[in-house]
Amino acid sequence: KRVTVLMGGASAEREVSLRSGRAAGSALEKAGYAVTLVDAGRDPHELVRAVEETQPDVVFNALHGRFGEDGCVQGVLNLMGVPYTHSGLLASAAAMDKAFARRLFETAGIPVAKGCVVRKGEASPLPRPHVVKPLNEGSSVGVYILMEGDSRDPLKDWPFESDEVLVEEFIPGRELTAAVMGDKALGVLEITSDRGFYDYEAKYAPGGSRHIMPAPLPASDYAEACRLAVESHRVLGCRGVSRTDLRYDDTRPGQPPRLIVLEVNTQPGMTATSLVPEMAAHTGIDFPALVRWMVEEARC
Ligand code: DAL
Ligand code: MG
Repeated sequence: KRVTVLMGGASAEREVSLRSGRAAGSALEKAGYAVTLVDAGRDPHELVRAVEETQPDVVFNALHGRFGEDGCVQGVLNLMGVPYTHSGLLASAAAMDKAFARRLFETAGIPVAKGCVVRKGEASPLPRPHVVKPLNEGSSVGVYILMEGDSRDPLKDWPFESDEVLVEEFIPGRELTAAVMGDKALGVLEITSDRGFYDYEAKYAPGGSRHIMPAPLPASDYAEACRLAVESHRVLGCRGVSRTDLRYDDTRPGQPPRLIVLEVNTQPGMTATSLVPEMAAHTGIDFPALVRWMVEEARC
């Protein structure tokens, strides 16, 4: 099979995507696929030309962030009739828009943080501590965690590109993530970071964070996190592999811990040391087997 790996692109997560693409591409090559790596660059016409020229049986979409993860590339590939890995147009677009995804989660009874969309010039209706995030970024790009007394005021200074952001109640506690492959959870992993916030540096700098797999939770909470990941994947209509980020709030005195879904990543990081490959490995699926499965599951 001929596989064209789309990577790079123009989003803020370009560097991560290049790493994901190279890792997936080299594993697929070793598995016998005829692989072409394409840096999707900044020009969508180039991407279309590259797919036309390489005539792939499957596109391995290793793009992250805007354009590659938000349904745009998925729509182009639909038009071209080329099967691709991960979610389709609708699920990709729905998951990438954090405000829209929240609404779907709420209708399905999936627990989310209190939150609302705030427009440029408006004040936050939610008291601090709260989190201000762009509606459509990944890897914590542009995310502000604002504690009481923090002198930063992004709602006033407005460093964002878009005219709307999401403001959510800050959920204290622990950081979890759960991968879904097909219709099954691969497990739940806990992330700890000395930086306090699992931001871009913590995510990608060596030693920036520690991964604990499986997450040391009571069995019923572990199972519930798996269920929520599968349910979130299902509600958005995701395909292939996804990764759901959650908070585990065990800080409320006298109350049981609560699980809160933050978001579903439809194009989770795919370097050999990324979270989804780590969770897959824990269930006995090594990186080459994971990316082979993704290629064989590709749809249009
Ligand atoms: N947005 C990054 C790539 C992730 O979710 O892994
Ligand atoms: Mg994300």
